[in-house]
Amino acid sequence: MAKVTFISADGATRTELEAPVETTILELAHKNNIDLEGACEGALACSTCHVIIHSDYLDRLPEPSEEEEDMLDLAFGLTLNSRLGCQIEITDELEGMEITLPAATRNMMVGS
Ligand code: FES
Repeated sequence: MAKVTFISADGATRTELEAPVETTILELAHKNNIDLEGACEGALACSTCHVIIHSDYLDRLPEPSEEEEDMLDLAFGLTLNSRLGCQIEITDELEGMEITLPAATRNMMVGS
């Protein structure tokens, strides 16, 4: 288990969770009613699982694959700390990580 905190786009809501290792950020969000979409369910075919990772934790994550980078390029509000939530598995090393939700997502799969 690792403790992680989701922060809403406006910073007003912080949700602290105990995350089982090997769960992805997307799965964790869905299990806990966090507003992270994940339209393609982790198939690297959308960018609606875009999250912003606290700088202290970026180096502890595996490098993004080329496919992840391609999809991230399509995300609204891209930052240097942006990653796709479905591609990041929780590990013990991520204890204390803060994950901020972006202000908007572009859902290209269902066109909303
Ligand atoms: Fe579609 Fe992550 S859920 S790329």
